[in-house]
Amino acid sequence: MSISVYGQDVERILVSEKEIDAITTRIAEEIDRDYENEEGKLVLLCILKGSVVFMGDLMKKIRRPVEIDFMRVSSYGEGTKSTGRIKIHLDLNRTDISECNILIIEDIIDSGRTLSYLSEYLRINGAKSVRTCTLLDKPSRREVEFSSDYVGKTIPDEFVVGYGLDYQEKYRALPYVGILKREVYEH
Ligand code: IMP
Ligand code: MG
Repeated sequence: MSISVYGQDVERILVSEKEIDAITTRIAEEIDRDYENEEGKLVLLCILKGSVVFMGDLMKKIRRPVEIDFMRVSSYGEGTKSTGRIKIHLDLNRTDISECNILIIEDIIDSGRTLSYLSEYLRINGAKSVRTCTLLDKPSRREVEFSSDYVGKTIPDEFVVGYGLDYQEKYRALPYVGILKREVYEH
């Protein structure tokens, strides 16, 4: 089969389907082990939209019972630059939050603002515990100190798309994570 139309905009593949599969298997095992003796429910909180593919694959590999929930927030304005502000577009609406061990599932950590804000927000709202899990981490881009409990892969400062991640809502359905060609976003 020929390369997809969107695939042509990818400079090179950074995390292959095979590697992603190994990452989700490893993280699911870590989660099963770490939450074994926790009381309360485990709630996987998917941060829309970028984390939807990762969460779908990860949740199938976790053996212990989980509930799922969703929030939509944004820190990115136009293009590839962060605005530094976090806006909640879809909030978590649970009456049982004090019984929930919330594991935030994120696609990528860049400035660190989204996850540091969200972790604090959920703690203030009374979650039993809050941990974070990210597929990708770009530590060289941090503007606020933040480290995730689970990290799929640490990557260099490149703008990546695929496996849920977008550039202007495109490329989310690519089955791998690839570096977007600069000519696509630099004019
Ligand atoms: P942070 O608050 O700066 O850590 O932003 C994290 C969010 O920025 C992610 O959830 C993504 O939506 C977006 N983001 C950061 N880097 C990339 C990238 O390389 N490709 C696509 N989206 C990105
Ligand atoms: Mg995102």
